[in-house]
Amino acid sequence: MKKVQDYYFKKAKKDKYPARSVYKLEEAQQKYTILKKGDAVLDLGCSPGSWAMYAAKIVGPKGMVVGVDLLDTKKMGLANAADIHLIRADIMAENIIRIIQEKRNHFNVVLSDIAPRTTGNKWADQQKSLTLSRRTLELSEELLSRNGNFYCKVFEGEDFKEFVNQVKERFKSVKIFKPKSSRSESREVFVLGMRFVRK
Ligand SMILES: C[S@@+](CC[C@H](N)C(=O)[O-])C[C@H]1O[C@@H](n2cnc3c(N)ncnc32)[C@H](O)[C@@H]1O
Repeated sequence: MKKVQDYYFKKAKKDKYPARSVYKLEEAQQKYTILKKGDAVLDLGCSPGSWAMYAAKIVGPKGMVVGVDLLDTKKMGLANAADIHLIRADIMAENIIRIIQEKRNHFNVVLSDIAPRTTGNKWADQQKSLTLSRRTLELSEELLSRNGNFYCKVFEGEDFKEFVNQVKERFKSVKIFKPKSSRSESREVFVLGMRFVRK
């Protein structure tokens, strides 16, 4: 397993991404085409910025990326890519929708690689992760355009099925994806909702 992790760590360095997590988005993009040229993308939990960089390259100069994180994200300027707008904020904050909409009202894609700070208590960590995942779905309901896509990290465990069912109510197609670049021993998986249906 260590070999696989070293491989992605080295690859990220070579490809000039700040984190190897970029391949968890790249693999899904190659399989399901979540992002398209010209899309507006909201990246929740964006720091240190690999997904935002990757998305900006895929959507190109006519697209836009807005990244939100509790932590600072180093500003990125990329050639032949979308502008990346960074917001330092908590997605649980009451006024977060208004803050995001200062940049743009609706997005074609919402991404979330949000992970809570883990405590080592599996049950508590899974519950924290699920609270954040539910919040990303709630924000998507307000911020996604019709037929938009949603790609979100979740930790499998109790209530996971219920979360997937909630995603199924809002998207025409739903997949659960475990990228090769995600540690096999990790309980993280990604829920992909494609083609958002506005209620
Ligand atoms: C695994 S990292 C994201 C890596 C990123 N996708 C990349 O490729 O560079 C998870 C991020 O979620 C952020 N996060 C956790 N809870 C958050 C919250 N409530 N609001 C905003 N960001 C949060 C953390 O600060 C952390 O930077």
